[in-house]
Amino acid sequence: MKTYIVGNWKLNFTVGEASIYLHKLLKALPNYRDIDVVVAPSTIALQPLSLQVDRHKIKLAAQNAFYRDYGAFTGETAFSQLRGVADYSIIGHSERRYIFGEDDKMIAKKVAAAIRNRITPILCIGETESERAFGETADVIRDQLIGGLSEVADDNVDKVIVAYEPVWAISSSKVAKMATPDEIAEVVKLIRANLKEVYGEKTAKEIPVLFGGSVSPANAGAYLMVPGVNGLLIGGSSLILSEFVDIIETAKRTRS
Ligand code: PGA
Repeated sequence: MKTYIVGNWKLNFTVGEASIYLHKLLKALPNYRDIDVVVAPSTIALQPLSLQVDRHKIKLAAQNAFYRDYGAFTGETAFSQLRGVADYSIIGHSERRYIFGEDDKMIAKKVAAAIRNRITPILCIGETESERAFGETADVIRDQLIGGLSEVADDNVDKVIVAYEPVWAISSSKVAKMATPDEIAEVVKLIRANLKEVYGEKTAKEIPVLFGGSVSPANAGAYLMVPGVNGLLIGGSSLILSEFVDIIETAKRTRS
């Protein structure tokens, strides 16, 4: 299986800044066949960057889009409009869930819409600090995972990437505690057990599971060694080119 290194730029960089960053990143990277390097800029930058990018080296992800393909939905961008522009889309990020009120039902429609438009969904799931404290982690993970996949036909589920992002480990959260490899391993095991139960062993093995939450050059190696983890979703550290490149090189070393 490939390793996925995904940079989530969130609401940062003008189109010009994004273009300069991409230019430098393209120069810094060789063509790593076994690593998919992905960056997720703001929607407005996706189209110009798609003309600039060398897709053998770097792929683009949307941070969000709407599940209907067209219609009276003021302010939205559809997955159908991103077809051919973005290869991936982050869906259900905790900031979408908790700031913009997205629930599992809406997220499930978005996952299905992405697949319908040949965009690989990166479905983000993860418990909050209080859910963990109350012992609800397993239930939250199951609900968000199975709920998020509920609109996808069974034979398409293997087109999804899952990202485990404990909300308490994300750098923008108030607590921002670093997850330990053991904590991650336990939840990743749970994710695969749920996938196996609902979709069978083959699918459970084929779906890449990424980890995200305060990933940096200092911890990327340890996180990539966690059994069952196939890549990283990186926020803050992906905004600093040297750190992002460092993490990609760590991924390369970890594989060989
Ligand atoms: P962080 O963000 O790496 O800054 O914690 C990760 C994310 O929100 O996807």
